[in-house]
Amino acid sequence: MSFEGFLSLQSMPATCGFFFFAFTLLFSFFSLLLFISRMKPWCNCDICKSYLTVSWATKFTNLCDWYTHLLRKSPSGTIHVHVLGNTITANPDNVEHILKTNFQNYPKGKPFSAILGDLLGQGIFNVDGDSWLFQRKMASLELGSVAIRSYAMELVNEEIHARLLPFMLSTARGEMNKEKVLDLQDILRRFSFDNICKISFGLDPRCLLPTLPVSNLADAFDLASKLSAERAMTASPFIWKAKRLLGIGSEKRLKEAIKVVNDVAHDMIKQRREMGFNSQKNLLSRFMGSVEDDAYLRDIVVSFLLAGRDTVASALTGFFSLLSKSPEVEARIREEVGPGPELPTFDQIREMHYLNAAIHESMRLFPSIQFDSKFATEDDVLPDGTFVRKGSRVTYHPYAMGRMESIWGPDCLQFRPERWLRDGVFVPPCPFKYPVFQAGVRVCLGKDLALTEMRSVVVALVRQFEIRVVEPDQGPRFVPGLTANLRGGLPVRVLERKC
Ligand code: HEM
Repeated sequence: MSFEGFLSLQSMPATCGFFFFAFTLLFSFFSLLLFISRMKPWCNCDICKSYLTVSWATKFTNLCDWYTHLLRKSPSGTIHVHVLGNTITANPDNVEHILKTNFQNYPKGKPFSAILGDLLGQGIFNVDGDSWLFQRKMASLELGSVAIRSYAMELVNEEIHARLLPFMLSTARGEMNKEKVLDLQDILRRFSFDNICKISFGLDPRCLLPTLPVSNLADAFDLASKLSAERAMTASPFIWKAKRLLGIGSEKRLKEAIKVVNDVAHDMIKQRREMGFNSQKNLLSRFMGSVEDDAYLRDIVVSFLLAGRDTVASALTGFFSLLSKSPEVEARIREEVGPGPELPTFDQIREMHYLNAAIHESMRLFPSIQFDSKFATEDDVLPDGTFVRKGSRVTYHPYAMGRMESIWGPDCLQFRPERWLRDGVFVPPCPFKYPVFQAGVRVCLGKDLALTEMRSVVVALVRQFEIRVVEPDQGPRFVPGLTANLRGGLPVRVLERKC
């Protein structure tokens, strides 16, 4: 039990405390029974034994690396973790089946919606069916519009020039610390949170001011995402549901964090209504034209914060960690982007084939979302012959897929942007071999925006700085969560280039 839970118990009368304990005990007991009957905690197969005893951790740093190892060994590219009721696949034919051909059978499902329900409500990430379709249509109209795209890029370029470059420069000049070191992951998360808040709400949380201030909104949002993701790791959903019912421990903290996010969202909605939303270009104001219910508006916009924050920061962190060890790739990017303080235009950036290849290549090895699960509504058979039972979980695994010899060839573990080029021209990937932005019916709606944002950041930083990871030989350690974040961040040394 958490400290907060213990403290609140202290103030209860003794009888009340007794009933509280009896109730918790009974609840936990029934959860355990239910858990035992639904899952198979006794499975004796090698994978399940290794999972249950955590013996995989003796050979692998991250769970995703162990799954990759198993998926590479599996002739079909599919494995089963029976104790989790989870079929995991890295087989592109299966991925196409799940995300496109038999999409109707593989919704996000209730277990997922329940886990993220308090944070995301009815937002696009968390719903299926009509509500999803409505938001998808509305969001693709907005994110596809030239007005919104150029507005978003204006904001991104402003954040690069006014905050990102000055911060990097003062680090490179030793004004921040003599070692010229910073945590690049932290800087990029601040950068992308400022951007996505401005794009979504028209609000500037100023996370990347020179003092690197604490932002209550960013902290609350991080905590809420982390605690929501941790719900998925409890032995049974009944455990977190009981804690939520009793308002104790992590569930109490989650509720408090969500309240901070809600208060900001509701203030924004109120302000936008008072100011008149018609002339505003942020997503919230645009959605207000079609949605009147404030709770629904809040849900829609909070999903965008989640969509655009850590994904971009995580992808850029992975990119710079690989680039730091590949001076020849860095040199080729510099050659392509050329010198100059002005950021290239949208059209110029699209013509930078090598840059585009390098960004896709880094996300192949370090996708922001390492795996994604669906829940089957009916019994099904995947193209590789795997039987999927109604109600069971099916996971496709972009992290493992990026490391499959069967997809990328024997040099699949090397960072080699050239693999994306034919006669110097970037060739887009087959989305089912590379589901980094998901693929098929629910493919990411912010893909083009995210790629343009990433290219602009890379051009700006690579021209002016050499960014070197402080401990290049240390393999990545990921924090469990919705997106891939590095434990301990990414400490880098920043050197100013004399151009
Ligand atoms: C490198 C950056 C990004 C990556 C790797 C990425 C990846 C993904 C993935 C894997 C999904 C599917 C998630 C799921 O269904 O559980 C997704 C969905 C989505 N993404 Fe992105 N994303 C990125 C940036 C963005 C940005 C910047 C935005 C918006 C401003 C955005 C908007 C969305 C939306 C609205 C969906 C939901 C689509 C649906 O369910 O129909 N994404 N993204």
